[in-house]
This record gives sequence, structure tokens and C-alpha cells, in this order.
Amino acid sequence: MTIAEATSETVARAARLLRRGGLVAFPTETVYGLGADATDGRAVAAIFEAKGRPRFNPLIAHVAGVEAAAELGELTGAACALARSFWPGPLTLVLAKRPGCGIAELATAGLDTVAVRVPAHPVARSLLRATGLPVAAPSANRSGHVSATTAAHVEADLGARVALILDGGPAPLGLESTVVDVTGAAPVVLRPGAVAREALARVLGHPIEVACGVGGAPASPGMLARHYAPAARLRLDAREVREGEALLAFGSPLPAHRGPAVNLSRSGDLLEAAANLFAALRTLDATGAEAIAAMPIPEQGLGEAINDRLRRAARPR
Ligand code: TXA
Ligand code: MG
Repeated sequence: MTIAEATSETVARAARLLRRGGLVAFPTETVYGLGADATDGRAVAAIFEAKGRPRFNPLIAHVAGVEAAAELGELTGAACALARSFWPGPLTLVLAKRPGCGIAELATAGLDTVAVRVPAHPVARSLLRATGLPVAAPSANRSGHVSATTAAHVEADLGARVALILDGGPAPLGLESTVVDVTGAAPVVLRPGAVAREALARVLGHPIEVACGVGGAPASPGMLARHYAPAARLRLDAREVREGEALLAFGSPLPAHRGPAVNLSRSGDLLEAAANLFAALRTLDATGAEAIAAMPIPEQGLGEAINDRLRRAARPR
């Protein structure tokens, strides 16, 4: 049985599992989260795989307090006021990411921003204190299903894909956190959620808009045109490396090449490749190569997400 009632012992076990790169589902006041060490790219990749998430949406980093949040992102001005009023609680702030904050590139989908939340649920809080780590956690459901608000929902959706499900009873709010982007001139709501817009406006002292995506729908991350794409041109399904190209390799053997190369996974492991993807693109870009030849990646499992990301990065500007 992967479900365990949340006690000081099972929380300590959950913390150990997280530190070892495992997946742990835990209650928050909004919905159950599927947690992994946010600084461990492989562990974060396992979240996408367990959820069957078709592409890499950025994840929320959960931390124990405001100080820990300030180590991950720039908590200035409006962000500070919102944090003081609503943390711990169901508010997620999208902040400018601090360089060297340690969050895996995959957790932020290669963006220069990081979403941070200090949850209020006592089980989530003791787990975060026990790990001392930022914990990346999307809602603990299979991609496309409704969010899980009980341990039983999590088990039905994810079952054996999770090392441990901490049962803390039904999630009190049952609605995800409100996501507010505070990186622009004025804060905007990216996802309406458990903190009402009026409550945000009262603290800010002025109204706050909901960012609109296509057709007036709330902006979802996939729609944000800010996803990282390398400066270099990307050539997909490359079986040979041309003059002046860097190589984004996968598996072995490699085609002949003279320029810089990064292998996403020598052994052809998609989990490892997913964890390395965004960092690899940055590394190759930093070499100043004009073009990157990307070897084919199988369109299965996490390969679908990796290819989706590569295809979007390869789109002409
Ligand atoms: O209540 C919640 O927020 C729950 C609990 C577990 O904390 N988590 C949750 O995570 O709903 P998820 O992954 O299902 O939704 C996170 C939302 C997505 O819409 C994602 O695009 C957005 O936050 N997000 C995360 N990082 C972002 C970033 N750097 N910039 C913009 N949006 C971001
Ligand atoms: Mg979700």
C-alpha cells in the first residue's frame, strides 16, 4: 500500500524519499501535490512521466517560508506585500529567478522566472521543513484529469507511480492556488484560484487584471510565448552534423562531428534526457554555435514531451 496516514514518522519517511529523488504525494490546503526535489532534474522529469503530462509546463516550487522563497526568486515590492498577506496560503507568485538558486531547469521549463508558494497545510509544512528542499509539485492527478483532493484520488490516478502518498484527509480548499505574475510593471493573475482577485486588489491598493490567453481564456503556461528557445537555429531529426553545427546528441553511437556536443543521455534513457534538455540547450547556445543538430528522439513516453519542446524551440521566429 502506498497510502500512509500522515504522522511524524511517515512525514520523515517522505522527506527521506524526496531527498533520494523519489516522488511523494502530499496534501496541501488547495489540492494534493505530486512532489519531487525541485533541484534534481531527474526527479522532476519523473513527475512529468508519472502524470503523463504531454509537455513540460513549469512547476511550482513549494518552500517552508518567505526566507526560502526569497532565495529562489526576487521578492520585491508588490511581491513582498502579497507574500506577507497571503503566505502561508493558496497564492503562487511568479518571480524573477535568482541565478544559481539551484532549481532544475526542467522545473521552470527553461524560463527565467520561478513560481513559488508557501503552503499552509500542516502536513505540507512539516514535510517542507523536514526536507529543507524546495519541492516541485503539480497537482497529483494524471494529466487531463481533475485535480486530486484526497489520497484515494491520488492512488486511483497515480498508484504505483508514487513512492508514498501521505494521507492528510481531504484538501480543505479543493481548488488550486491563484497564480500571480509579479515580474512585470503591474502584477497580473495568470490562473484564477483560491485567493480571490478582490483580496489581492485590497492588498495591492489597486485592481489586478487576469491575463488573457487566446479567445479571452485565462493564460495558461503553454500559451506564454516566453518559453526558452535557443538563439541558435535548431535542426531536428539530424542524422549527420553539418559544418558549423553543434550536436545535441541522444544515445550512441554519435555521427561524426567536430564542434561542441552535449549528449542528453548516452544510454538512451528518456528520463535522464528530459532532466538534461533545457540545460543542454543553454550549454550549446553558450558555445556561440549558429545551429544545433538534434539527433532523433523516440516518440514514446517522455520522448513525446521532449520532442514537443524541441519542435517548439525549432519553430522559425
Ligand atoms: O494549488 C496549487 O497550485 C497546486 C498545489 C499542489 O500547490 N499545484 C498546482 O500545480 O496546481 P500545477 O502544476 O497543476 O499548476 C501550476 C500552474 C500552471 O498553470 C503553470 O503554468 C503555472 O502554475 N506556472 C508555474 N511556473 C510558472 C512560471 N514560471 N511562469 C508562469 N506560470 C507558471
Ligand atoms: Mg494541475
